[in-house]
Amino acid sequence: MSSRAVVIAPSLLAADFSRVGEEIRKAETAGADWLHLDVMDGHFVPNISFGLPVAEAARRATSLFLDTHLMIEDPLTYGPQFAAAGSDRVIFHIEACEPPEGRVKWPRGWALAGEPTAAGLRRGREIAAAIRKTGKAAGIALNPETPAEAVLALVPDVDLILVMSVWPGFGGQAFIDGVVPKIAELRRGAPGLRIEMDGGITPATIGACARAGADAFVAGTAVFRQPDPAAAVRALREQAG
Ligand code: DX5
Ligand code: ZN
Repeated sequence: MSSRAVVIAPSLLAADFSRVGEEIRKAETAGADWLHLDVMDGHFVPNISFGLPVAEAARRATSLFLDTHLMIEDPLTYGPQFAAAGSDRVIFHIEACEPPEGRVKWPRGWALAGEPTAAGLRRGREIAAAIRKTGKAAGIALNPETPAEAVLALVPDVDLILVMSVWPGFGGQAFIDGVVPKIAELRRGAPGLRIEMDGGITPATIGACARAGADAFVAGTAVFRQPDPAAAVRALREQAG
């Protein structure tokens, strides 16, 4: 368990893009703590979502904490740009820090087999420093098949670890139960950081993650696609409690 208050972060990816401003207000009135922005480039993941103009529009539309998740190949170039666009935290993937020869290709995306190479670690520190230089927070994400030890050397450089509980690229996928033991390992290795779960989070899956030590939860489908988003946020909080 974590000693911090649980955070619920609805993902804009599941919103109706024909009326983004209204959808953001819906998340606010539903009791969201953060708004999660999923940025995809069609290279790091097999999908394209949205970019800087949408992050800027979200910043104009809300004072909620903007938690931006970059599923892109070049977070060194774009991380500081998303920070300048109004993100409060910019999260990048450890797999994107690693040169291609240090990565493992799974059918659904990238993984590392263990600790990053010296070049990968250098790159990760460089990206985190570039984001922090803008005055914003930095977070590190890891894909379902990447083990905890791949990110532990970056603990001093970030304030949050994002654990993917689906292969990134699409909302609405089923939670991968196999990632739960990794949460406890990360909690032991990073007692001072937020641990955020992303993918397939519902009232049925959130409890096991919270008991293992996660304290922030992205929820796309489980908030935006529900008839009563406020009740949905309450249900998530109750099950995480
Ligand atoms: C997946 C994204 C997630 C996703 C979560 O690539 O990083 O944030 O939108 O959506 P749900 O909650 O529907 O699994
Ligand atoms: Zn995400």
